[in-house]
Amino acid sequence: MKQERILIIDFGGQNNQSVARKVRDCSVYCEVHPFTISIEDIKSFNPKGIILIGGNDSVCDVDASLCSEELFKLGYPILGISYGSHVISKLLCGKVEKLSDSKNGKVKVSLLNSKLFEGIDCNFVWMNHDDYVVEVPNGFKVTGKTENGIISCFENEEKNIYGIQFYPENSNTDNGDKLIYNFVYNICGCHGYWKMSDFIESTIVEIREKVKDGKVLLALSGGVDSSVSAVLLSKAIGKQLTCVFVDHGLLRKYEAEEVSKVFGKDGDYDLNFIKVDAQQRFYGKLKGVTDPERKRKIIGEEFIRVFEEEAKKIGKVDFLVQGTIYPDIIESGIGKQAVIKSHHNVGGLPSVVDFKEIIEPLKLLFKDEVRKVGLELGLPEYLVFRQPFPGPGLGVRIIGEITEEKVKIVQDADYIYRNEIEKAGLNKVFSQYFAAITNLQSVGIKNNKRSYDYAIALRAVITSDFMSAEWGRIPYDVLDVISRRIVSEVDGVNRVLYDCTSKPPATIEFE
Ligand code: XMP
Repeated sequence: MKQERILIIDFGGQNNQSVARKVRDCSVYCEVHPFTISIEDIKSFNPKGIILIGGNDSVCDVDASLCSEELFKLGYPILGISYGSHVISKLLCGKVEKLSDSKNGKVKVSLLNSKLFEGIDCNFVWMNHDDYVVEVPNGFKVTGKTENGIISCFENEEKNIYGIQFYPENSNTDNGDKLIYNFVYNICGCHGYWKMSDFIESTIVEIREKVKDGKVLLALSGGVDSSVSAVLLSKAIGKQLTCVFVDHGLLRKYEAEEVSKVFGKDGDYDLNFIKVDAQQRFYGKLKGVTDPERKRKIIGEEFIRVFEEEAKKIGKVDFLVQGTIYPDIIESGIGKQAVIKSHHNVGGLPSVVDFKEIIEPLKLLFKDEVRKVGLELGLPEYLVFRQPFPGPGLGVRIIGEITEEKVKIVQDADYIYRNEIEKAGLNKVFSQYFAAITNLQSVGIKNNKRSYDYAIALRAVITSDFMSAEWGRIPYDVLDVISRRIVSEVDGVNRVLYDCTSKPPATIEFE
């Protein structure tokens, strides 16, 4: 394979992987390395170009993170983003200052002709730094300014060194993708040979080198991240991997069968698959419990107990696999690469399972990239494009006490609902949609007789980050079909309600 590599040198930013993913989107391989990388290692990495990125530190500080000036003599094309552009200016004898009248957030800039801006005119961009280049180094020219005259872009075309004050990876920057594309293709001369299958191949090699003949354990939930992790690991180490899938009795209809079909003994993968039927155990523990937090706790704790018991049966485990993806790392506030110790209680998994190390094969990928890996690995679309499903499962969609009867009702209603949303072609319109069973029983007429049955609530939301969400507008005729089907096909239901509340004030789940 022809290797074209972009090196990202990180001076302490939180979003280094967002830039990396933009480069991958250009079909070019890249790696993020800390600013302490040696000149020798840079040379042996043999990059087609280098991107310098950083956070909110100031190059004006005495202990600022910097690299060697030698970097600029190697002849590699260089793009400095925000702090990275300050590093260029500082090391090449330009001037960087903190500006009291700096303007952050979405700012309009005008751009001059440059290879970097090919096909890009005047732009709104996202800036978030108080330091600015106020004098460009000798031999450099200013190629962009904000409306209030602040230097936002500068370059030395001959030396192929470019600096921009703003963040092209930020969604508020117009044409940010095009700018990265221009750098990678027009300036670094890449052709775009890298594919997701290359990621898979190299990850498989890394896993084999790490695991050798060790035993590996994975808690498979059937969600996209753990499923894709399982397949990657199974391709790498086959039967050395054991996947434990706990059916806690709070799964969606046919979910246990679907997961077992793909990963079980008649499935496509060469792995050890253990399905634990723990439904009655969970129902027993949850009997009579109505408090939402208590329910969540019981489900979480019981899950861990079951997992521990299975792990003990397997014996000494060397590695535990986590389906962590990059947004999880950001969301948990870790920022840069997580240093996770073994025996550390991550993601709610047991601390007593004795293992050497954690393997997180997807930790640098974003959700849509994980889905691409899943499809590339041949996972069925219904697993790859699953909606998010909470760890406590239907437990948070059953208001009040959890009983087998209520589980069956909500499973059946939810199945019909999802089926009709798909038929109406709305499954990609809503970010999440599901049925919940309320604790409301009311009078109705079913089969010409008085009924006193449950009300089902339908929820659909549109959101990109799940932190806030807009309630989804399902057309009335689709709602009509769903409602009629649920009340006629699901025993114990005589009323269907539609949740038209956004988040906040409501949450997406009911409990
Ligand atoms: P809420 O209800 O907090 O949900 O608005 C936001 C998103 O998180 C999912 N969710 C969970 N996911 N374990 C999970 O793995 C949980 O305990 C949990 N609770 C909520 C929810 O489905 C939605 O996508």
